[in-house]
Amino acid sequence: MQTSGEPPIANIPDALLGWYDVNARRLPWRHMPDDPPADPYRVWLSEVMLQQTTVAAVRAYYKKFLDLWPTVEDLAAADDANVMAAWAGLGYYARARNLLACAREVARLGGFPRTEEGLRTLPGLGAYTAAAVAAIAFGQRAVVVDANVERVVSRLFAIAEPLPAGRSAIRAATETITPDRRAGDFAQAMMDLGSSICTVRSPRCLLCPLSADCKARTDGTPENFPVKAAKKAKPLRQGRAYWIERGGAVVLVTRAAKGMLGGMRALPDDGWSARADGHAAPPIPGEWREGGLVRHGFTHFDLELQLMLCEGGDFASLPLGEFWPVEAIEAAGLPTVFAKAARLALAHR
Ligand code: ADE
Repeated sequence: MQTSGEPPIANIPDALLGWYDVNARRLPWRHMPDDPPADPYRVWLSEVMLQQTTVAAVRAYYKKFLDLWPTVEDLAAADDANVMAAWAGLGYYARARNLLACAREVARLGGFPRTEEGLRTLPGLGAYTAAAVAAIAFGQRAVVVDANVERVVSRLFAIAEPLPAGRSAIRAATETITPDRRAGDFAQAMMDLGSSICTVRSPRCLLCPLSADCKARTDGTPENFPVKAAKKAKPLRQGRAYWIERGGAVVLVTRAAKGMLGGMRALPDDGWSARADGHAAPPIPGEWREGGLVRHGFTHFDLELQLMLCEGGDFASLPLGEFWPVEAIEAAGLPTVFAKAARLALAHR
């Protein structure tokens, strides 16, 4: 057993895999060590969904996508609007657009490339996903680093360089402990360890199979890792969203393909560009009233939308849009910020 100095690298994969064999979480997309090989489509779909999103939030979406599109060919043949609507609520909508582009390329190729480098050539498939799919679906040795792995490894090696710059040291350290065999199980074991034991606050070091090898634990300060650069305050953006209702239907638009929430169905808005000299004019003339404020946090800014309500109005001047039955608004696939606005509007009726 090691009590000081560098972790004894050879022990770490064995200790972790031994722990995983007993403690692995059963997850709908996960193949256990003795199961037949994983379906790369399912592995890829789950890994795309799990980026920036919790396991709890992903479960229902993963099931919905497999019910609607059981194979990558089915997904490739889907309508863009249906996929965007099925993704609504999961956030980071560029993932859904990339998902479709990637599915179409995989269908064209006749299957997923089996190596990390090959996977990287697919549209919208980044370094993390390529490594995760290569390791989990194809058993290739690949270095898989997500936020859980970052936390575990930064503690094991007491990497003091703050994130984001510290990521390359964390990656290099992960490389030294990634085994040639069972790289997919190893990656998932690291993730499970990070989410159940090596937690952000109050890590449960007494239960950790790697505690004897953990430098931060030996130093007594595991909670201090990973070290993070001081966060910049998020800017606040303000704007308006418009609820235009007539005869039990509300006007929805489809947002431009590029940009924030691109390709998603939404309420009309002002482009979130409130300026000191006032707000843009509403999309149609009519009797407008205020419907309250909607707040939503995006990655790089917070948004405050003033909801404006109008019944009737002069529809002759309405820009492009569709009338959507209000009682079926849940089925419109609105992204969360507009779903919040719709709930607020319904509370005002
Ligand atoms: N987070 C991202 N990918 C995961 C996986 N395969 N298992 C558990 N958590 C994850």
